[in-house]
Order: sequence, then structure tokens, then C-alpha cells
Amino acid sequence: MDPSLRLLSTTWFPIINAIALIFGNQVTAEECTVSTSQGNVRGETIWFTYDGSPSINQTIDVFKGIPYAEPPVGPNRFRKPVPKAPWETTLNTTTFRSICWQFPEFDIIPPQSEDCLFLNIWSPSVKVT
Ligand SMILES: *[C@@H]1O[C@H](CO)[C@@H](O)[C@H](O)[C@H]1NC(C)=O
Ligand SMILES: *[C@@H]1O[C@H](CO)[C@@H](O)[C@H](O)[C@H]1NC(C)=O
Repeated sequence: MDPSLRLLSTTWFPIINAIALIFGNQVTAEECTVSTSQGNVRGETIWFTYDGSPSINQTIDVFKGIPYAEPPVGPNRFRKPVPKAPWETTLNTTTFRSICWQFPEFDIIPPQSEDCLFLNIWSPSVKVT
């Protein structure tokens, strides 16, 4: 094997595998709603396949952008996080929210904002299949 290719495989393939694990093959998507102590969130159940080691072929529930604190803006800026107030309507948690501000040299692509206190959760499917 070409030495540069060997370096590539030992250095980058575990990282590529991890990325594949996160982004994998999304075959189908359907809504899935669960209740939290603050209110309901509506995510997606996807069929996730990953042809690696270990291989994965099962449904998982994906929730993107669940708020875990009030936005740290205005009077909340530079203060301890304020617990998120309960919400009445089901939150649509199917899209990523902004990430916190990063050092400019990190060439970050996602949108950045002070309003960034969100969780993304990938969970084994809570549905009985
Ligand atoms: C994944 O599981 C489904 C249903 O159990 C099956 O039909 C399919 O062939 C499996 N796919 C792979 C790549 O193992
Ligand atoms: C939730 O958000 C996604 C992405 O914006 C959208 O496609 C979907 O229709 C929304 N679902 C509901 C029930 O509003």
C-alpha cells in the first residue's frame, strides 16, 4: 500500500467511520413525538443502516435543536443558564439550530449565534417495532 494511503487509512478512516455513523444512510423518515418534562418534542424516526463494524440496521429517533435553557441573550447574557420554561405546543425538532460562536480560524460552516443552548439527540427508537 502506498505509504500516504496507509497514513490516510489509519488517521482518517476512524473519523470518517464516526461521521458515517452520525450521518449514515437515512432510508425513511416518519414523525415521532415524545414528552419531556418541559413539553412535547416532535422528531423523526429514521431507518438507519451502516455497513461497517459494528454494522447497524435499525430505526433510530432523531431530535434536533431541543432547547435546554432560555436563550442567553439580553438580561441573561453572561449569567448562569436559566432553565427553559415549559412549552404548550409540540416543538418541531427536525432542524439543527445555531451553534455557539467559535474562533474565526476554525472555519465553521453551520450558522452561529448567541442563542445556541440546544441539544441534538440520536436515540435507539423508542417505538416498539
Ligand atoms: C435491514 O433490516 C431489514 C428489516 O429487518 C431488512 O429487510 C434489510 O435487508 C436489512 N438490511 C441490511 C443491509 O441488512
Ligand atoms: C417541521 O419542520 C420541518 C423542517 O422545517 C418541516 O419540513 C416539517 O413540515 C415541520 N413539521 C411540522 C408538523 O410543522
